[in-house]
Amino acid sequence: MRRPALLIGTGAVVLVLVLLVVALLVRDDGRDDGPDDGSPAPTASASTPPAEAMTTVLSSSFDEGDEGWSPLGDGVQVAAAQDVTHDGAGSLLVSGRSEAWHGAAVDLSGSLARGQVHTVSAWVRLGDGAPEADVQLTLERDPGGDDPLYVHVARVGASSGDWVELSGTAEVPEGDGEWRLYVETTESTADLRLDDVTVQRPTPEVQTDVTALKDATEVPLGVAVGPQDLTGRPAELLLRHFDQLTPENAMKPITVQPAEGELDFGPMDEVLDFAAAHGLTVHGHTLVWHRSTPDWFFEAPDGRPLTGSAEDRALLLDRLRAHTRAIADHLAERYGDASPVTSWDVVNEALDPQQPDGLRHSRWYEVLGPDYVAEAFRIAREELGPDVALYLNDYDTDAPDRRRGLVRLVMDLQAAGAPVDGVGHQMHVDLGSDVDRVATTLDAVAALGVRQAVTELDVAISGRDEQLDRTPPDRLEAQRGQVRDLVAAFAQRDLAFVGVWGLYDTRSWLRAWPEERPYEAPLLFDDDLQAKPAYEGFLEGLGGAG
Ligand code: XIL
Repeated sequence: MRRPALLIGTGAVVLVLVLLVVALLVRDDGRDDGPDDGSPAPTASASTPPAEAMTTVLSSSFDEGDEGWSPLGDGVQVAAAQDVTHDGAGSLLVSGRSEAWHGAAVDLSGSLARGQVHTVSAWVRLGDGAPEADVQLTLERDPGGDDPLYVHVARVGASSGDWVELSGTAEVPEGDGEWRLYVETTESTADLRLDDVTVQRPTPEVQTDVTALKDATEVPLGVAVGPQDLTGRPAELLLRHFDQLTPENAMKPITVQPAEGELDFGPMDEVLDFAAAHGLTVHGHTLVWHRSTPDWFFEAPDGRPLTGSAEDRALLLDRLRAHTRAIADHLAERYGDASPVTSWDVVNEALDPQQPDGLRHSRWYEVLGPDYVAEAFRIAREELGPDVALYLNDYDTDAPDRRRGLVRLVMDLQAAGAPVDGVGHQMHVDLGSDVDRVATTLDAVAALGVRQAVTELDVAISGRDEQLDRTPPDRLEAQRGQVRDLVAAFAQRDLAFVGVWGLYDTRSWLRAWPEERPYEAPLLFDDDLQAKPAYEGFLEGLGGAG
């Protein structure tokens, strides 16, 4: 067992007490990680800035998958599961543990503020039938070569089947190295469940001497947000630069109706109340998608997978209608005629150029057939009313095969009389994306006579399987040029709105998808909420459009 060097060889009674306290704060897991590195053991003693100066750098709810968490230890597996949850739709199941220190970890290298005090909290549950044990949360720095440094955040006793909260503050010291957060136990090797993990860091003030982007654009400028963006400095940044919101996850079926008839409007209300209170419009996202839809949608009451039979088809359409109506009723009840939601992504990611008919063969398609897209638009119009614009939303619409599929689908929908008002281009692009191809797609859709919007803009600075070990300044400059050229192409065309997929880099989904990319920085504001070269590029693109 390794003890802090400071304490070895002393016998004073007072040190027994100190030892007890330190034992809570300093790692003691029996792993052979060599002698201490001599740095002072950082503790939870430093003071935390006031709440309004903190921003959330990690918020894992496991409603949408493992959210970038990975196994810690040989043979360990992690998987998001919808059967047990502390809150929301799911939690992370950590199984296959054969050592107490086995657990789950997430890379925070790009997100922690060196030299600052962070707040960290998580909910953990020991597997059924497990003996009582302590669970603990630890931040670890791997300096590469030297010994790791451990900063203990919290430790608490847990009994099987009960959720316990771990929370604390931790000072992240200056210095190089990779950082990760992990959860483990002290004795037990039982399965663990993890849910609702939050890490917050102190943040400098929002710049007030830079141009508000929304004042420079002619169309609404949107941003994808979650409840964690609606207070303190993120909220200040949001209100300064944006005048439309898209709930990043709060309106997805898995959030709103995790089990049939069990409606959870909590997160959606938070986002929409904020919009209503500040006069922002909201782009609803989303009704029909192959992801973020709970399994029950596609299962008969006896658990059998729905087929394409007339009966199963009717059941799935009824469920879609009931889901849509529940949201519409809730909006009417809460906001009357003044709902902030002015448009909706009705069907998300319907295209698949690999299929002969160009449509993704999702569960929606399997049960309802190719007409499901038109059906979804009809239901949306009937339930949501005539005043909201209904969008077909998709990604990589600049790729020629996807562009062709998109144009064909919109024409088919129009021919079928489906009430499609607009096309949303997600616009998850990167430094190599060809702006001319983007422009060609925008022109092709304009020719169809529907409105169109950029719904989820971000510009990745790394390839999907590329691991950066820092955020290179030259890539941020290249990103500025890419954003400038894209925005110039947008400004020259008639778009209903432009939306960015996240407020500041830490909040980008690309930090966790498709792999952990802790130094990915695809947005307009950096981890400290400060304007990036890409922000300048955005303004330049608007100016350059004449
Ligand atoms: C992403 C969210 O940003 C993540 O927080 C979530 O874990 C997964 O979904 N296209 C879409 C969005 O239409 O809904 C996705 O959002 C990003 C890709």
